[in-house]
Amino acid sequence: MNAVDLINKTKKNVPLTDNEIKWLINSYTAGELPDYQMSAWLMAVCFNGLTEEETLALTYAMRDSGDILHLDIPMTADKHSTGGVGDKTSLIIGPTAAACGVCMAKMSGRGLGHTGGTIDKLESIKGFRTDLSVHEFEDILHKIGFSVISQSDSLCPADKKIYALRNATGTVNSIPLICASIMSKKLATNADVLLLDVKYGSGAFMKSRSDAEKLAAIMEKIGKSAGKKCRAVVTDMDIPLGKNIGNALEVEEAINILRGNERGRLYEICIDLTADILELAGKGNRSECVRMAENAISSGTALDVFRKTIELQGGNPAVCDDISLLPHSRFSYKVKAAHDMKISGFDTEELGMVSLLLGAGRIEKDDRIDMSAGIVMNVRPGDCIMAGETIMTLYSTICSDFSEAAVRAVNAVISEKINYHIPLT
Ligand code: URA
Repeated sequence: MNAVDLINKTKKNVPLTDNEIKWLINSYTAGELPDYQMSAWLMAVCFNGLTEEETLALTYAMRDSGDILHLDIPMTADKHSTGGVGDKTSLIIGPTAAACGVCMAKMSGRGLGHTGGTIDKLESIKGFRTDLSVHEFEDILHKIGFSVISQSDSLCPADKKIYALRNATGTVNSIPLICASIMSKKLATNADVLLLDVKYGSGAFMKSRSDAEKLAAIMEKIGKSAGKKCRAVVTDMDIPLGKNIGNALEVEEAINILRGNERGRLYEICIDLTADILELAGKGNRSECVRMAENAISSGTALDVFRKTIELQGGNPAVCDDISLLPHSRFSYKVKAAHDMKISGFDTEELGMVSLLLGAGRIEKDDRIDMSAGIVMNVRPGDCIMAGETIMTLYSTICSDFSEAAVRAVNAVISEKINYHIPLT
């Protein structure tokens, strides 16, 4: 077989056979196909899509690039989000579901495009390791019921390589590529219960609800056909999820939620998604599952699980009690309102890009991340603020010149000019 023929076929919308897809994936994983040819094929997929059969073949070829886990645990669950800005739900849902008795065996990825990744977020905790051996992963699951592992040379190596390549070549945004990336990981960890959180809106890869529904449908179909108890839900990502964007900042916010200190939209969505997992795992009816998830947070048992997982994966568990132990940035910049305004919304993808610019993600494949970098939002849509009030604060350690980030951040705020001044009569 030859890569140029296969690239041309996809370019001309001629479906590839299962064997052709396997050959592409195996040759790339083995280092026999160069990045430039894989990138060209990925770009053709971004433009032309793949048939359902090709998407399935791609998912299985990527899963089979490494081992499939057969853990010595009666039932495991996994949850995956298709990606968004400020989406730290996995850090909350994993320990909460585990505290309710569901073993959460999670395989995650790093930041992708304008979105953050669970692996990068967890690695902002000093010492935290996600390159676990299968034995370590299983041992942690036995001990505490929640562990997070990354793709590796033995687990989904094809996704490890392709994920990093997509991030550096503008080839993230594609239903079949996202589906195969996520489902290959989920089928490799081989959890019995799968919850897929498909995001749509300005901060998501799927901008429209109908595209998100298409992605949800195909992922759920693949999950169910592999014999999993699988549910895909479609949730809104038009505005950042929670207040903080960026790795350590998001861990801090997740810990605050697990401490029971914060309520609001992020808390509600985490309770809802945890209840989905508990329901799928047969823990009770909807209202019982919601109550169990709420109790796990209010009683502190979810935080206890997170603390123990951090310790078992080599991190400093004291961060759960003292968030000043997380990386903090050297520089900060307050983005202020130039005039009285009512916030109507955000260009949330652009906020993700600003966070990347500050150092929170990778622009080139091998970029190092500034774990302290990111954004803390002070306002939500509907808020009215006066001239001079802070809209958001930008944080960075590697970048002390905030001029470009500040201009882009201001432009990412959608607002109406108002006048707070009430004339005296
Ligand atoms: N998460 C993944 O693991 N892969 C994608 O392509 C998008 C989100």
